[in-house]
Amino acid sequence: MTTVSEIFETMAYGPAPENDKPALEWIARHDGAFGLFIGGRWTNGKSDAGFDVINPATTARLARVSQAGQADVDAAVAAARKAFPAWSALSGHARARHLYALARAVQRHSRLLAVLESLDNGKSIRETRDLDIPLVARHLTHHAGWAQLADSEFAGYGPVGVVGQIVPWNFPLLMVAWKIAPALAAGNTVVLKPAEFTPLTALCLAEIAHEGGGLPPGVLNVVTGDGRTGELIVTHADIDKIAFTGSTEVGRLIRKATAGSGKKLSLELGGKSPFIVFDDADLDSVVEGVVDAIWFNQGQVCCAGSRLLVHEGIAERLVTKLRARMEKLRVGPPLDKAIDMGAIVAPVQLERIRSLVNTGVDEGATMWQPSWACPTDGYFYPPTLFTNVSPAATVAQVEIFGPVLVSMTFRTPAEAVELANNTPYGLAASVWTENINLALDVAPKIKAGVVWINCTNLFDAASGFGGYRESGFGREGGREGMWEYLKREREAGSEMRDAKKKPAKPARAARIPHPASPIPPIDRTYKLFIGGAQVRPDQGYSRKILSPSGTLLAEVAEGNRKDIRNAVEAAHAAEGWAKTSGHNRGQVLYYLAENLAQRADEFAERIADLTGRAGSDGRREVDASIARLFSYAAWADKYDGAVHQTPIRGVTIAMNEPIGVIGIACPEEDPLLGFVSLVGPAVAVGNTVIAIPSEAHPLAATELYTVLDASDVPAGVINVVTGAKDALANVLAEHDDVDAVWYFGNQAAGAEVERASAGNMKRTWVEWHPRDWNDSEQGEGREFLREATQVKNIWIPYGE
Ligand code: NAI
Repeated sequence: MTTVSEIFETMAYGPAPENDKPALEWIARHDGAFGLFIGGRWTNGKSDAGFDVINPATTARLARVSQAGQADVDAAVAAARKAFPAWSALSGHARARHLYALARAVQRHSRLLAVLESLDNGKSIRETRDLDIPLVARHLTHHAGWAQLADSEFAGYGPVGVVGQIVPWNFPLLMVAWKIAPALAAGNTVVLKPAEFTPLTALCLAEIAHEGGGLPPGVLNVVTGDGRTGELIVTHADIDKIAFTGSTEVGRLIRKATAGSGKKLSLELGGKSPFIVFDDADLDSVVEGVVDAIWFNQGQVCCAGSRLLVHEGIAERLVTKLRARMEKLRVGPPLDKAIDMGAIVAPVQLERIRSLVNTGVDEGATMWQPSWACPTDGYFYPPTLFTNVSPAATVAQVEIFGPVLVSMTFRTPAEAVELANNTPYGLAASVWTENINLALDVAPKIKAGVVWINCTNLFDAASGFGGYRESGFGREGGREGMWEYLKREREAGSEMRDAKKKPAKPARAARIPHPASPIPPIDRTYKLFIGGAQVRPDQGYSRKILSPSGTLLAEVAEGNRKDIRNAVEAAHAAEGWAKTSGHNRGQVLYYLAENLAQRADEFAERIADLTGRAGSDGRREVDASIARLFSYAAWADKYDGAVHQTPIRGVTIAMNEPIGVIGIACPEEDPLLGFVSLVGPAVAVGNTVIAIPSEAHPLAATELYTVLDASDVPAGVINVVTGAKDALANVLAEHDDVDAVWYFGNQAAGAEVERASAGNMKRTWVEWHPRDWNDSEQGEGREFLREATQVKNIWIPYGE
């Protein structure tokens, strides 16, 4: 019998398999055979040609897919072309809603997609579940934001047209997301070809997007096939842009094939990225960094840190540590949750790795592998380390695309840089040192699109990714990635421009008064909203809220100085909000918009009752508020800082930081939209707020309490105190723990706010000229974000 102490000694892992049943059932629902996804539905390929999709961990057949030929690619391009006018003419907000819906659909089906990806590609469930699929959703959400902001941030630019996208097998669904998210956000329609080894998740996504996601037919078409199908896409006359990720060899073919065609092109190709370790680096962190750099995804990563360049003095120590760590890595069934490395995608890739490793040995380098053996029932390859490698050796120059690390040594930083750049590629690099001067001296000298300092393989939708030199051109992610899918709109006669013209807004004077309801709907007494809870006001007074015709609509709490003090305290307690990521803040705002949309009719009616405007006008205000929340959800991870050109050798980084606690006295007009237009930007960038809603029409804001509750807005981030607006604004202006006050109202009270703010020299933003909150140029954008932030400049000189 095994004793506890024995188990403790060996610490052996038991099996922890993820259930593959739902994924296999999804395949079975399609009878194990897939057609092409064209024009919003499954279609049979026009020829009978097809091929098997294999599970590389077991060599079992998973499914059969079609090999799309000319007629199929023609049909897909025609569907995309047909969908283009309507899709590109949609407002940015409408496309944002589609992308957001797609992101939500991915989240709803995340485990299905993760398991399917592991089955199809052989990568571990740990990676697909925790990295690939969450990043897919993140890309879609982030680009919902760019769709929302496209009109203002890319003014004068429109979509390119029909885009052909060809992706590789190493991150099958993630590469799909990197491609389609910016393309669709910018208003393009897509014909996408997944890699022949791994087509299943792209097909599954297409199905999900149309079934639950409501994507219009023809906007996203998926055709399967090998390089021949890829070629048909590349050379198709009715495709306006090609985006490709894959080998440099094929990238070169595509460059030649598209030359002179007028097609826009972006290429994300191979790499042989350096991983540079200086002698003052934290070696334990370095070891974990190497694991992530070259054994993540079995080393089948374009930006894998495949060349370890180590300072001579620590090389031996590092290699010893690395070997010890490699001995502990676990290679095995990808669906086992405790596995580090899964299977290699296909026999040809396994063969390529084996043959390059043999070449390395033949050329005289020292090869080391752990003592244990890999499973033999699939395409597995152990983590491998080469030492004693010459910089010109094949294994030091050629992209192996497997779990094989080659290590070389250097003596000086200059030599490290020279070695790092001794490659035709330039995708990424990683620099490890505790000396920030050295890191920042070396980083700009490396010819690579991404440099990671004391980290590696970090990706995000907000940051562009792409290469220098033979690693390709163009970026994916961030603002720079969007440009790849946009072109300048022609000044005259452009269909796009006409289609995009906004409908005339109803003039204010034309708003028709709404007859008051015969029975006044007094449904409840509204309290204050402080620290995430509805609380009674300190004094226990309420004020009556009347409709324009004098009917009593409801009673709201009369806030006072003490209530404001409590709200300020709650806002301070919620300052952790500033430390959450822009992505998370955006998610909360999207969720708020989603929940407001659920109750749009009710809010519209409420506004109509309050203001006496027509119900349709109330609805317009609610819709505009939802769109505005989308805008600030979009901005939350996009209001970037800058790097200034100061005359030092180094970088001066300008960072936008939140101001802290902002008191906001909202405008009287547009009670919901005015509130959302001010609170939105303030919280998007990380401030916490105390809002005083419109004094005459506060019910739209008080009604929002329950929506805030349901939308994961953390307690204390948004506090609402109703009552006498000017007096309450003055309390905020006098309060020493409030960092800024925004006041939208009359001139005299505005002047009081400015005077009272002198106590702690808080920032104020005071306006008494009414704005047209419906007009997005007046009601949202960078002006609001500037008011909500302050800039910190960080000077970092560098050099040895
Ligand atoms: P590949 O570049 O041939 O395939 C990538 C994609 O391009 C696939 O969808 C494929 O069907 C398509 N394709 C192939 N030939 C084409 C053509 N003539 N025109 C248009 N599309 C075409 O990569 P492959 O064969 O899968 O892998 C070979 C080597 O390429 C790997 O060992 C690795 O070194 C490198 N590679 C690099 C990747 C990266 O992300 N940088 C990704 C995949 C492979």
